[in-house]
Amino acid sequence: MEDPAASRVTAEQFRRGMRCLAGAVNVVTAAFDGHRFGLTATAVCSATAEPPSILACINRATATHGAILGSRAFCVNVLRVEDADLANAFSGKQSGELRFRSGEWLRLSSGAPALASALTSLDCRLVQHMDHGTHTIFLGEVQSIVFGREGRALLYANGQYARLASLAQGEPLPEGFDRWVDV
Ligand SMILES: Cc1cc2nc3c(=O)[nH]c(=O)nc-3n(C[C@H](O)[C@H](O)[C@H](O)COP(=O)(O)O)c2cc1C
Repeated sequence: MEDPAASRVTAEQFRRGMRCLAGAVNVVTAAFDGHRFGLTATAVCSATAEPPSILACINRATATHGAILGSRAFCVNVLRVEDADLANAFSGKQSGELRFRSGEWLRLSSGAPALASALTSLDCRLVQHMDHGTHTIFLGEVQSIVFGREGRALLYANGQYARLASLAQGEPLPEGFDRWVDV
């Protein structure tokens, strides 16, 4: 008999769907046992404004995963488009402490490293976590926010890094739209 819980979505279909989901690129960091850890992550989103909290989905096989659990804290550094090299370093081009050779890093009250050139760094206390498949969904309450440098967000869409482009006022509107919105 067919298992009703079994997914009818193939891995290929899922990957194709996710390529359509454009996301901001972040480096999620933590410090534990005298060491710094971090990885590039797009699976980050706002959870609630009251209390200020965010979600981050982190693969359980990563070194940063253990550091978040151990320190009960993490920091989300939202990257600017100029920091695409850093996103590469933190997604496998470098490993361990070598990743922190890229960029200037500060230490926040949680102990987690904050990137001086990030658009913003959200320092979080871990309040809840839930394992699901290969990943853990971490819920963090934001304890402090640092605004690093002004700029535009680095995005990841359709399997590549991308930049935000404002839809300039004055350009012809797509069918069904009655005005442009400034971003
Ligand atoms: C654009 C992009 C987004 C990523 N998003 C995530 C993510 O949200 N969660 C995650 O666990 N890994 C994500 N990864 C993969 C990790 O960055 C990568 O596996 C990293 O090397 C893991 O750290 P480790 O080498 O210390 O295990 C992403 C990679 C890229 C290039």
